Amino acid sequence: MANNQIKKIGVLTSGGDAPGMNAAIRAVARTCATNSIECVGINQGYKGLLDEDFTELTPRAVGNIINRGGSFLRSARCKEFKFPEVRQKAAENARKAGIDALVVIGGDGSFTGALKLQTETGIPVIGIPGTIDNDIYGSDYSIGFDTAINTAMEAIDKIRDTAAAHDRIFFVEVMGHGSGYIAVYTGMATGVEQIVMPPKKDKENKNIIPDGDELYDEIVSELQKEDGRKKSSSIVIVSENGKSIGERVRIITEEVKKRMPEKDIKETTLGHIQRGGSPTTADRVLATRLGTGAVEGLLKGEYGMITGVRDNKIVYTPLRDNTVAYDAENDFDVKRTHEIIEEFRRVANIMNI
Ligand code: F6P
Repeated sequence: MANNQIKKIGVLTSGGDAPGMNAAIRAVARTCATNSIECVGINQGYKGLLDEDFTELTPRAVGNIINRGGSFLRSARCKEFKFPEVRQKAAENARKAGIDALVVIGGDGSFTGALKLQTETGIPVIGIPGTIDNDIYGSDYSIGFDTAINTAMEAIDKIRDTAAAHDRIFFVEVMGHGSGYIAVYTGMATGVEQIVMPPKKDKENKNIIPDGDELYDEIVSELQKEDGRKKSSSIVIVSENGKSIGERVRIITEEVKKRMPEKDIKETTLGHIQRGGSPTTADRVLATRLGTGAVEGLLKGEYGMITGVRDNKIVYTPLRDNTVAYDAENDFDVKRTHEIIEEFRRVANIMNI
């Protein structure tokens, strides 16, 4: 499609919501208006494309939402979208509504659907990383991560008060899916005694390798060292297992209790509190830049890309880097990952002296 043929852009939020998604929707709508392009909001992610549930997004329609958490368009994980015939139906509905191109705000699952939609139906798409997990390859930060780590930091500071008052050990589970970003950032910011990173995955990058005695013994051995350091409390951050919120911290706490029966040990799961709240300045600014970058990207022909920020500059990276692909040479499925910078973990360890 020639870029001057884009007359109407659809925007949707998909997957887990993230604070700042509204700021991104606002930026998409207003950048469209500036370029004399109509903007239509698609409610409830890909489901709204199937149900033809659309909302006109004029610059005024997106007023007073920059400060709001959640998603004004609502979000959903649309399981049916994995079927090609469903994607064809979605494309038909988009065309019927005059939508020439699509902005998808979400994470890697949403991007996999977006790329398939473009490849199979020819509708140009562009992604905006919107997830608290910060696990999108092609952007230093994703929308919602900064708010989530600030929420988690405040909660852990509060847990520290009560942990210190009672000489307790606290295991605190944070979200992040498989990425560990929330764990590392909040761990460093709150000065916790240990950070338990997400469980590893098998060669196919599909199944989670269950935790075992080796991990539990290592946690206990580190906690025993704390006794020698005369600390009044210990906090261990546990990154979720990517399967079931709260499950990993419950199992780890039980195993450590068995090994340290003399200690007063408690567990807390921060859970979905990390997904809500008014976005921080950093998230509002990031979302606004990425929203504008996405529309400008479509106008420049950056189809099938994600709009990201690297070294504080807007960059475009192929969506396929964030989808699961087959690596014929090594015979397994791969997805490029946004790895935790090793320096972060090293510094967090130095601080725990
Ligand atoms: O991707 C965001 C996230 O909050 C992850 O950190 C977490 O694993 C997952 O979504 C929880 O999903 P749901 O809200 O569907 O339980």
